[in-house]
Amino acid sequence: MYNGPYYRYDLQLLERTIKVAQEAAQQSGTILHYAIKANHEEPILRKIKSGGMNVDCVSAGEIKAALENGWNANQIVFAGSGKTIREISYALEQNIFVIHCESVEEYHLIQELKQHITTSTKVALRLNPDLRVDTHENISTGEKHHKFGVSPQEALELVQLDGSICGFHVHVGSQILDMTYFVSLSKKIRDFIDALPSNYSFDYLNLGGGLGIDYEQPERNPIPNFEGWINAIRTHLPTSLIEVIRLEPGRSIVGQCGTLIGEVQYMKHLETSMPLAILDIGMTELMRPALYGARHKISAHHEAFNFASYRISGPSCESSDSFGSDYLLPILKRGDLVTVHSTGAYGSSMRLNYNLKETIPSRFINRPLETCFKARNRKVA
Ligand SMILES: Cc1ncc(COP(=O)(O)O)c(C=O)c1O
Repeated sequence: MYNGPYYRYDLQLLERTIKVAQEAAQQSGTILHYAIKANHEEPILRKIKSGGMNVDCVSAGEIKAALENGWNANQIVFAGSGKTIREISYALEQNIFVIHCESVEEYHLIQELKQHITTSTKVALRLNPDLRVDTHENISTGEKHHKFGVSPQEALELVQLDGSICGFHVHVGSQILDMTYFVSLSKKIRDFIDALPSNYSFDYLNLGGGLGIDYEQPERNPIPNFEGWINAIRTHLPTSLIEVIRLEPGRSIVGQCGTLIGEVQYMKHLETSMPLAILDIGMTELMRPALYGARHKISAHHEAFNFASYRISGPSCESSDSFGSDYLLPILKRGDLVTVHSTGAYGSSMRLNYNLKETIPSRFINRPLETCFKARNRKVA
């Protein structure tokens, strides 16, 4: 019985994913901090916490959510290019583990605030390594022109000024599937470390998140390649050189365990395009397609002998509220149910209030989607 759209989470898959990620990490001196921005639904956070992961935050709100969900302050790191005085003060007062400082001005502000707040929080520099990676421009973050981090030159000057800087953080982008970019990242960081002054030593290195997931065939690859990622990171940064490296996976932990269930509201047969199915879900529940043209697998819940290619849209008052075209699906009609796959990351955490659309519920279920619906989908490239 369909009572309106909902996010559906497979907690069993989440648990397996955390286990695989943690096993890969433990084999090579790696500590994982879950990037809470990817999904902050409480049952998800509880699983991640009980799976032994630390946490990575980018706002005071996320730090508060982490603390409320049982993480100790010393398991929390905090990045963000536009941290406010209130946010930095809150982080210092809570004695979180490390603040990732993203600019020279922010460094001086933190020093000023530290004169008034007694804290155990350490400061690391987020480095901008000027590395181009193969992902969408809007989720690429490690090139010179991006707003994130300090340049290697600025970092060298700051560590000469302040030997208490505990180390470095980098995050070059998200949804990266080609492991050679992580090899290049490890080389860049190795070169940077080699150029550090000999009287400066550090004990903190965090290379961010970024591991991609398979949006095209989520059922074939439900668990991302954590081992490949960590091995690539370790290529030029072996444990003999850096005993512990921290990573901040978000999408790769929660992306595949989430789906979004909706219903076809109307069919339109337009002169100028393939038939259009308008759903009761769209950019307000999943912003990624409208925000950067991201493509998600979509399947219908009914079986059919005949298939057609569809354009699929959401209901919001924006033409960009579209999942895209060329979805080959069983013949659709009003009232058919559909699943949008791989929505566990940057789905519910990015939901919009636009048009005052009602917030849809989340259901947390301990079994895969296929056992509930006979989903079927073929997609035209
Ligand atoms: C600083 C930082 N760390 C980690 C992540 C998580 O990245 P991903 O979800 O690609 O693993 C992000 C995402 O944008 C980020 O900005």
